[in-house]
Amino acid sequence: MSIDDTPLARAAEAAVQVRTRRFGEDLPRPARTRVMTVANQKGGVGKTTSTVNLAAALALQGLAVLVLDLDPQGNASTALAIDHHSDVPSIYDVLIDSRPLIEVVTAVIDIEGLWCAPATLDLAGAEIELVPMVAREHRLRRAVAAYLGAHEQAHGRLDYVLIDCPPSLGLLTLNALVAADEVLIPIQCEYYALEGLGQLMRTVDLVTDQLNPGLHVSTILLTMYDARTRLAAQVADEVRSHFGVRVLPTAIPRSVRVSEAPSYGQTVMTYDPGSTGALSYLEAARELARQPAAQAVSGVGPVDPLGSVVTPNVAVAVPGSVAEQVVVPGAIEVVGADTPYQQ
Ligand SMILES: Nc1ncnc2c1ncn2[C@@H]1O[C@H](COP(=O)(O)OP(=O)(O)OP(=O)(O)O)[C@@H](O)[C@H]1O
Ligand SMILES: [Mg+2]
Repeated sequence: MSIDDTPLARAAEAAVQVRTRRFGEDLPRPARTRVMTVANQKGGVGKTTSTVNLAAALALQGLAVLVLDLDPQGNASTALAIDHHSDVPSIYDVLIDSRPLIEVVTAVIDIEGLWCAPATLDLAGAEIELVPMVAREHRLRRAVAAYLGAHEQAHGRLDYVLIDCPPSLGLLTLNALVAADEVLIPIQCEYYALEGLGQLMRTVDLVTDQLNPGLHVSTILLTMYDARTRLAAQVADEVRSHFGVRVLPTAIPRSVRVSEAPSYGQTVMTYDPGSTGALSYLEAARELARQPAAQAVSGVGPVDPLGSVVTPNVAVAVPGSVAEQVVVPGAIEVVGADTPYQQ
């Protein structure tokens, strides 16, 4: 092992790269804006952490990235230091009052090429308020479609839109699934990791069948991987044997620096760029950018040239619609047994 190839040398090099914004080679830009929903109805699996850190890692490596915070908890907004107290224009206004996304999106300080639309606590009410609305599952998709053109005019084309979802399969997550081309599922490498995944996959299938034919699960990211435990390796093996190449080769290790960063209003990418967590997210971002899906030009995608929605509205009070099957209107409870994921 040469001195340049030690963990310490790699950490120091990464820290310098982040601070000077100089990386060896630029990441390839996707053929078109990739809209990815980060979803898993299980709580605390690393959705938000992965959304903000992948977004930061992509932006630091030269790509243009927008984070949409679709979780009333507003954790992604906090991590990106975006103001999200109740008076701030937010995703709630976009979904409920049809406010243009451009009036809500803010540039992230410190990371060029990264933007965020914040979530406020109001969004908790949106699950209920959306229920009687026309085209209730399509509202985010329409907003994103209109925004992409506006963003391109002002700043050039966006490369990635990453949508952070709440830990449920209600109308907010449904809006995110209808708005996206791809689903990225973070899976925590722990005992119950695979439970509930079957239900998520069924929901994605329903959305693909009825609301957004272009949607597919393109990426699985293993999170909070603890190399010291045999269980983590077993979970990782099981996930890889089922999902194959869709699982990014890099697993994100459990790291204190990752969990500390949000309390400083930072991603780990800027909080401690030489840490194992930051290095892993940098590498995972490279893998994401080099996936074959990044160069796919076909597919329905979120936008038609007129900025309108091309999928039919099958949602409103149609028995058997996706919303009917996934949520109980008014109660927003998941219907059906949460059957463990089976291979
Ligand atoms: N690699 C990691 N190492 C250590 N802690 C981590 C790591 N990834 C996430 N965490 C911590 O685990 C907790 C859950 O992570 P996170 O908030 O990203 O999950 P989530 O899926 O978005 O949760 P929710 O379902 O509540 O939205 C947080 O406290 C976060 O700081
Ligand atoms: Mg979260």
